Amino acid sequence: ELHRIPHPPHRLPLLGDVLGADRRSPLQDSMRYARALGRVYRRRVFGKEFVFTWGARQAADLADESRFAKHVGLGVANLRPVAGDGLFTAYNHESNWQLAHDVLAPGFSREAMAAYHVMMLDVAARLTGHWDRELAAGRTVDVPGDMTKLTLETIARTGFGHDFGSFERARPHPFVTAMVGTLTYAQRLNTVPAPLAPYLLRAATRRNAADIDHLNQTVDDLVRARREAGGSGQGDLLDRMLETVHPVTGERLSARNVRRQVITFLVAGHETTSGALSFALHYLAQHPRIAERARAEVDRVWGDAAAPGYEQVAKLRYVRRVLDESLRLWPTAPAFAREARQDTVLAGEHPMRRGAWTLVLTPMLHRDPEAWGPDAERFDPDRFDAPAVRARPPHVFKPFGTGARACIGRQFALHEATLVLGLLLRRYDLHAEPDYRLRITERLTLMPEGLRLRLERRTAPA
Ligand code: HEM
Repeated sequence: ELHRIPHPPHRLPLLGDVLGADRRSPLQDSMRYARALGRVYRRRVFGKEFVFTWGARQAADLADESRFAKHVGLGVANLRPVAGDGLFTAYNHESNWQLAHDVLAPGFSREAMAAYHVMMLDVAARLTGHWDRELAAGRTVDVPGDMTKLTLETIARTGFGHDFGSFERARPHPFVTAMVGTLTYAQRLNTVPAPLAPYLLRAATRRNAADIDHLNQTVDDLVRARREAGGSGQGDLLDRMLETVHPVTGERLSARNVRRQVITFLVAGHETTSGALSFALHYLAQHPRIAERARAEVDRVWGDAAAPGYEQVAKLRYVRRVLDESLRLWPTAPAFAREARQDTVLAGEHPMRRGAWTLVLTPMLHRDPEAWGPDAERFDPDRFDAPAVRARPPHVFKPFGTGARACIGRQFALHEATLVLGLLLRRYDLHAEPDYRLRITERLTLMPEGLRLRLERRTAPA
């Protein structure tokens, strides 16, 4: 039934729809095609057809878990050699998914989050210490670089009792370099015909194997140290992975699966949050009036308390809207795939056979004028105040995916990012560099490229 779905006009033999495509920006290319071809379209790449979807109505239909489920495809499938049957990359039928989900879900309960809060504050203090020093030295700050340090240290500390020492290093930690390498490689694999990848990407394939070795090594060292210490005494994610016996089945995670979960959480637990914080800081610097309103809220809700309590973070309603609005325009995990569980018809229009799948382009779903209005490209946090949310159809805001396989770390990310934005707004005035234009780096995830801000220390209150 593909023939009724529009595709780009100039198809090349063998290569397919690759004219004008840039292997460094597949997502932005897909957005360009989306604007030209409509809410459901297809692209042929090296003889394979891919269907892309972004219409609000279609996305709502794809959220129906009785007819659709997560599909492990493209970028996610390319990460299988790194993360295997870890939570993010597991196939729905792999039994380790349910086991690990049940073992780890309590690690994101309210109680668990309240315990992480104190550690998050600690890591945030390392960031502000670093920014104070940069400011004193008259330098601008490297936003994506520093947000990556912050979020890596946060997940390492809260989940695994580990310290990568990111803020004490001039260069990114080798774990981060290896991770960026594997993400970039997984993205590049989509740009060559699969059977030819070992030949066309020979050097990159070798580097990728070395990167995976490095990730495994780092994680094996970390796990060994924990086993020797006999637990952290805090019941963090790693303790849960090593010690929990499933209450119903009596199973435990195998050593091999633990390694994959640790890599999964270290990567999924920081890369996308770092991007989300970076985009939010970009928009705050570009919109001083919005920043002023957000800061007034922080001052009002937090007063001059030295450190906000756990409960005080969720009370930053406007700061949270700034974050949501940033994730609307640039959802940092910018797509997820859905497959039909049985023969069905998508949104009453497109017949799909069991197992057929489509990639949902979240940045375009988040701009569909049918759901978001004609000014959908404009940054406006008020789209997330309660009446505006109620007035919109459901399932049109999906930065964390959908259904049973949606993000397990959503509350963790939102708490961390809201807390950090609050702390930064309270401490600094953020100034954009005068000629900065938003450009986006893609490595499966999205990140603002070369974003630097000039800081000014606020004198009052804290
Ligand atoms: C799954 C986005 C933060 C761990 C997902 C998915 C998305 C997503 C879209 C679903 C992918 C799919 O359907 O294929 C984000 C964004 C984040 C974020 C935008 C930050 C702003 C985190 C954090 C953690 C985390 C902080 C861990 C602490 C995971 C895991 C999965 C996942 C383990 C797989 C869940 C499963 O399939 O059972 N995330 N995430 N994420 N995320 Fe996140």
